[in-house]
Amino acid sequence: MANLAVVGAQWGDEGKGKVVDLLADRFGVVARYQGGPNAGHTVTIDGVRHALHHIPSGAFRPGVKIVVGNGTVLDLPKMLSEIDGLEAAGIDLSDRLFVSDRAHVILPTMAQLDALSEASTDVRIGTTQKGIGPTYEAKAGRVGIRIADLADREELARKIRRLVEGPIGKRIRDSGKDPGDAEAITARAHADGQRLAPYVADTALLLNRWIDAGESVLFEGAQGTLLDLDHGCYPYVTSSTTIAGGLCAGLGVSPRLVGGVLGVMKAYATRVGEGPMPTELADGPGGIGQTIRDRGREYGTTTGRPRRCGWFDAVAARYAQTLNRFDGVCVTLLDVLDPFPEIRIGTGYLLDGRPIDAFPATAAAAARVEPSWETVPGWRTDTTGARRWEDLPAAARAYLDRLGALIGAEVAVVGVGPDRTQSIVRPGSWLARAFDLPLPASPGDLR
Ligand code: GDP
Ligand code: IMO
Ligand code: MG
Repeated sequence: MANLAVVGAQWGDEGKGKVVDLLADRFGVVARYQGGPNAGHTVTIDGVRHALHHIPSGAFRPGVKIVVGNGTVLDLPKMLSEIDGLEAAGIDLSDRLFVSDRAHVILPTMAQLDALSEASTDVRIGTTQKGIGPTYEAKAGRVGIRIADLADREELARKIRRLVEGPIGKRIRDSGKDPGDAEAITARAHADGQRLAPYVADTALLLNRWIDAGESVLFEGAQGTLLDLDHGCYPYVTSSTTIAGGLCAGLGVSPRLVGGVLGVMKAYATRVGEGPMPTELADGPGGIGQTIRDRGREYGTTTGRPRRCGWFDAVAARYAQTLNRFDGVCVTLLDVLDPFPEIRIGTGYLLDGRPIDAFPATAAAAARVEPSWETVPGWRTDTTGARRWEDLPAAARAYLDRLGALIGAEVAVVGVGPDRTQSIVRPGSWLARAFDLPLPASPGDLR
């Protein structure tokens, strides 16, 4: 079976966790390739909501191996408590969780620097303040701490001293704060490293061996295309390569081994943090934006911040299609639009009154963009009980087809609620054919 990438097509929180969980049991391995605890991936099973930050969303499929790749950045205390929480909930991770020895460690100093940078700049990104940016900065600056460094206490102490007493610590001291004691940070990191050690491996080597032995891999993206460090709306982006292309470097897997790419997008748009969002509905209490927020429970999985909501942005989605070449897309949270008599789609952009056909390179230009709109009829029907494509109201199917046509990709899956059972794979679609779907395999799996 082909190896499949599942990638966010908007500004993150598209429902990747739910889709990965849905498909994971068709794969031998689920592997995360970038990001860290800035991610919050939700999987809801039998009414129980699980929020994952470091651990891939294949965790709830017993027997599926899960890999945290070299392209990720890890907050060890948070990751260990996530592992403990899953084990306490009866999810056995021993012998099936593999953490790259090349992944980078988020030191408390990095999270401190993230918060300080946000507080002391006129260009606030609205980061999750988990230390993501400073940790990737240290990685690119070749002074980062990797998982493999945790084993040798003396070497680790030297490297941490260099960070805390060097330029990174200086940035913290210069703003009147204490970057912490290098020895205490070392002691904690070393102890955490020992606890994590049973899971640590050369995951690039393992993945390639497993693929050679005929196992298939689902590559799980974090964040979304418009938050990509290069292609997103810079500087209002995260610090990693979120697009499908990032998986090759983030896991050590050749592009020749990627068999398909599934884009995940909401039936509308959300964004958390600062930066331009052309189709935003900042229409206040009682407005459509607030209705979407309430119905979609649009509050950050990681930070609890209210997400900014708006209509579907087809220009941004087409841009995501260009960068990722989705074989098909999954449209999630369709049910959120159930009550609206009319639905709008941002189909084009006007920049300073002139039509443009691409996402602008600068945030200043993106902030000046005015969308051009198309209005389509709503369906005013509860879709949350739909389990087959034919169960969806005709206007909902027409909306999905319109999105597919605007993006240039087939809508292969639709989400009608947060639960594992509330996804419909379109019969005969690329995904259904490639992975022997629609799910579930037997009617007994439902409800
Ligand atoms: P991720 O970061 O891409 O994994 O997405 P998040 O988990 O951060 O946010 C998606 C939210 O939407 C979560 O609360 C999910 O439980 C929820 N969700 C996912 N799919 C659907 C859907 O089809 N309908 C509804 N109503 N909620 C959904
Ligand atoms: P998942 O994987 C939504 C946003 C932050 C901020 C910007 C930079 O759950 O989709 P960072 O802390 O990464 O330096 O913040 O990116 N952001 C996300 N938004 N979903 C996420 O992850 C995000 N991870 C980061 O809000 O705007
Ligand atoms: Mg999320």
